[in-house]
Amino acid sequence: MMETATRAGCTAYEAWADERLQRCESLLDAWVPADAPAGLGLAMRYAVLDGGKRLRPLLVWAACEAVDGHKAAADRAAVAAELIHAYSLVHDDLPCMDNDVLRRGKPTVHVAFGEAQAMLAGDAMQALAFEVLTPEAGVDPALQARLCRLLARASGWAGMAGGQAVDLAAVGQALDETTLRDMHHRKTGMLLQGSVLMGAACGQTTAAEWQALARYGDALGLAFQVVDDILDVTQDTATLGKTAGKDQEANKPTYVSVMGLDASRRYAHRLRDEALAALDEVPRLQAHRLRDLAFKVVARDN
Ligand code: IPE
Ligand code: IPE
Ligand code: MG
Ligand code: MG
Ligand code: MG
Repeated sequence: MMETATRAGCTAYEAWADERLQRCESLLDAWVPADAPAGLGLAMRYAVLDGGKRLRPLLVWAACEAVDGHKAAADRAAVAAELIHAYSLVHDDLPCMDNDVLRRGKPTVHVAFGEAQAMLAGDAMQALAFEVLTPEAGVDPALQARLCRLLARASGWAGMAGGQAVDLAAVGQALDETTLRDMHHRKTGMLLQGSVLMGAACGQTTAAEWQALARYGDALGLAFQVVDDILDVTQDTATLGKTAGKDQEANKPTYVSVMGLDASRRYAHRLRDEALAALDEVPRLQAHRLRDLAFKVVARDN
């Protein structure tokens, strides 16, 4: 799709991604403590290790590489973004939210460890994300502060948590497209965009480059959730690693319920093209991995 194979069965993108996926696993393994009290560490590790596509870390690294940024800071931002994401999944699955029993091919954290422990594991992962971003040495304090602000904004009231509140309030409602877009942008898009911007913050950008990357992240983030809505109806549980057909069962408004499947697919492709067009405006950036990821997000099957 994107590149000719450089060696049998492995494109340059895949080699790039494999290396970073391994890095992600070993960084998370090092950061998430097994010995947090009363089994909390086991629940945290269960929630975040060994599963997931790691798209947010990949976006951080791809954006950092696009601007030739500070690698150690990007490693921390990648871990922090995945911790926030994994925490959001643990809470999203709770009985008081989406009430899901399967995630990343395993019983959800509350099924395996109980509801209270799942809630606390999410809380602790959120706090750990900000601890990871703020080392005593090795990353300029101004950059630390900027990364914290970007992640807080993406995950807090204006972003993921706010979007999740809208999502729960919208059950059973026929949302118009503007409200649906806003909900998806907040609950999912902003953390993906935030991952891109954290990566970009690790290097130098002009204002125009920053804005182009923000537009890329905005379009890609929305495309990601449009595709999530599509996969919920088109894929089976084994492929997804989470229960298929949940949105309809829970009476959630989604792109598929509002626009239909074909229009949702077209919209996802349009958003991907908007993301790519934003990168075309900033040819100085080494954005090929960001481009690859835009294709991957829309072409994925889980
Ligand atoms: C699922 O995210 C939840 C949404 C924000 C739509 P992912 O599809 O990235 O989940 P993992 O990390 O691969 O499990
Ligand atoms: C979740 O959206 C977005 C989050 C902030 C976790 P969904 O509820 O659609 O995610 P899945 O389908 O359960 O992964
Ligand atoms: Mg949800
Ligand atoms: Mg859910
Ligand atoms: Mg979903």
